[in-house]
Amino acid sequence: GLRVNSLRASTDDVLGALQAAGLEIEECGLPGSLLLTGGGGGVGALPGFGEGLWTVQDIAAQLVGVLSAPAAGEVVLELCAAPGGKSTHLAELMGDAGVILSVDKHAKKLPLIRSNCERLGITSVSAHAADGTDAAALKMLLAGAAGGRGQADLVVLDAPCSGSGTLRRNPEHRYEDGSRLGELTALQDRLLDAAAECVRPGGALVYSVCSPLVAEGCGRLGSFLERHPTFSCPPIDAANLEAYVADAPVLGGARRGVRS
Ligand SMILES: C[S@@+](CC[C@H](N)C(=O)[O-])C[C@H]1O[C@@H](n2cnc3c(N)ncnc32)[C@H](O)[C@@H]1O
Repeated sequence: GLRVNSLRASTDDVLGALQAAGLEIEECGLPGSLLLTGGGGGVGALPGFGEGLWTVQDIAAQLVGVLSAPAAGEVVLELCAAPGGKSTHLAELMGDAGVILSVDKHAKKLPLIRSNCERLGITSVSAHAADGTDAAALKMLLAGAAGGRGQADLVVLDAPCSGSGTLRRNPEHRYEDGSRLGELTALQDRLLDAAAECVRPGGALVYSVCSPLVAEGCGRLGSFLERHPTFSCPPIDAANLEAYVADAPVLGGARRGVRS
């Protein structure tokens, strides 16, 4: 999938330019999302990429930004943020107005976030190296950057996972045995607990993984809600999501991920 940078271009303009370049590409029902069905080649050489008019991002990943529904001016913390696909989407949805702190454990990945922001013309995102399980470090970051409040309106946690939802693209994950799953779910719980401490009262926490495994999705949420009774899980408007994905069989995996 492709995501049109709403700060710089309209969907029609990007669609027209890419079709003129010979790509088979169509709208897929999610505003600003395009689905490539044929053609392609080097992304960097395609019209509009260098100018930051669009980004490559799976439609399922785009649903995370849409469901997060950030408002302009909010303070947002994204944990596990590199290379910045979701942070830049959140910034576009906020009209690049507000504060987005993008945190990844690995400092060497931060330049990827920064260069993506630069290409897309985004200034509301700042990239920081921190361990997403270290609530105290995260709250210090928030206190320094967000007017001293120490908590965010919205925390998005795109946790490391087994990647089972991306087997088509990363077939090497097929050969992993189940032994890493226990480590991953323990890390997901610790990240969720730290994320929860960073949400202001009345704010929102969004959790996503690119795995359809219940243990990494619903299972983690169920156990989170038991540990954190002040949080509740609002129902997702499934009919609304259905409209986005019903006509795109290629999104079968994403559908399970979103619903599980
Ligand atoms: C699924 S990827 C994130 C993709 C990103 N959110 C996006 O949309 O482009 C998971 C990221 O988590 C980072 N990570 C792993 N363990 C972490 C931890 N304890 N704290 C913070 N980040 C971590 C990895 O470096 C990796 O970049």
